[in-house]
Amino acid sequence: MSVTHVPEAVRPAVAGADFEALRRQDPELAEILIGELDRQSTTLQLIAAENFTSPAVLAALGSPLANKYAEGYPGARYHGGCEFVDVAERLAVDRATALFGAAHANVQSHSGSSAVLAAYAALLRPGDTVLAMGLPFGGHLTHGSPANFSGRWFDFVGYGVDAETGLIDYEQVRTLARSHRPKAIVCGSISYPRHIDYAAFREIADEVGAHLIADAAHPIGLVAGGAAPNPVPYADVVCATTHKVLRGPRGGMILCGGELAERIDRAVFPFTQGGAQMHTIAAKAVAFGEAATPAFAAYARQVVANARVLAERLAAEGLAITTGGTDTHLLTVDPAPLGVEGRTARGRLAAAGMVLDTCALPHGDARGLRLGTAALTTQGMGETEMARVAKLFAGVLRDETDSKTAREEVRELAGGFPPYPGR
Ligand SMILES: Cc1ncc(COP(=O)(O)O)c(C=O)c1O
Repeated sequence: MSVTHVPEAVRPAVAGADFEALRRQDPELAEILIGELDRQSTTLQLIAAENFTSPAVLAALGSPLANKYAEGYPGARYHGGCEFVDVAERLAVDRATALFGAAHANVQSHSGSSAVLAAYAALLRPGDTVLAMGLPFGGHLTHGSPANFSGRWFDFVGYGVDAETGLIDYEQVRTLARSHRPKAIVCGSISYPRHIDYAAFREIADEVGAHLIADAAHPIGLVAGGAAPNPVPYADVVCATTHKVLRGPRGGMILCGGELAERIDRAVFPFTQGGAQMHTIAAKAVAFGEAATPAFAAYARQVVANARVLAERLAAEGLAITTGGTDTHLLTVDPAPLGVEGRTARGRLAAAGMVLDTCALPHGDARGLRLGTAALTTQGMGETEMARVAKLFAGVLRDETDSKTAREEVRELAGGFPPYPGR
């Protein structure tokens, strides 16, 4: 589809966000945006679920596609005027299926949680039994939290990780599957640092006649870059987020085989969602295009290399690294050997400008820390910088470096790697 009939003079205005207009009209809100950009640029984003989208993704998000109502799917909408957004959605779907080798992709899910909700809606009935990683071990809210629809509407059974090794105990998963006969098994986590053995989960699911749902919200970006195993050949349905390592806009996505395509599409719209967010879908298309490039594959490899160095250096500083390391972009650590508990550690690190989350640990009730390298790697940081981060990190936790000095060092380090150069 060509847009050459749009007059040249109008194009800059239609092409994307106009920050100067916002600043003139609403300086109060504009200041907030600048403040957030400053925060992101002068602190270290170690939250494993965050990243910096490209200016191209931001342009799509801030485009006039945000104005468009588009209930339904390309070629079958409940609204008129969908000729351009239909092309955008088809492009996003085609790029997603090619990227992940899936027969079908639904790119309308508003978030990772909405994707999981739709997967359950497509495959389950209220009251069905589902086997998923327990929340105390790294399961997501949508994996059976009583505070979430999943725990209220389904009967969740949780598997754990080995208290010593921190690894999934596939024999425990098999035993639980045999005794509870779940309708679906979910594999995926918010904090598991190792590759998941999708073939093992498939085998267990087949043995008990369960659907296999891979919630690959975290590793999907590594999958795109060829740096992690692909769940698509094994799972009936793969749910994912398009932010995190994948570096697209905040949103969700579902991949499945052709036989489930219609059920999944109907589970997203009209069952659990209304109109698709076309600006986000366009931004997803941009991100999928970026993720298909050799540069992104190199990025994904560097994300993992950085996470490994960070894990090694933190271990050398005396922190306990769960599972002894990482295969992915994230690592979870217990700061207790340095004499500090997870929540206190997070507060001290935040004061120094190192932003991260606490997380469950394989053993006991104490909280650990979850770190990820996706954002720092996008900024261009490598192994040298990871070593510096680990040193700063441990210095702050040991109370050897006061937070003001550490904050200045963090500012100086971050200043060398602006996430949006020139802004
Ligand atoms: C495993 C897993 N599933 C689902 C989600 C939900 O994603 P969202 O926050 O976009 O709803 C997350 C987000 O962190 C996640 O890690």
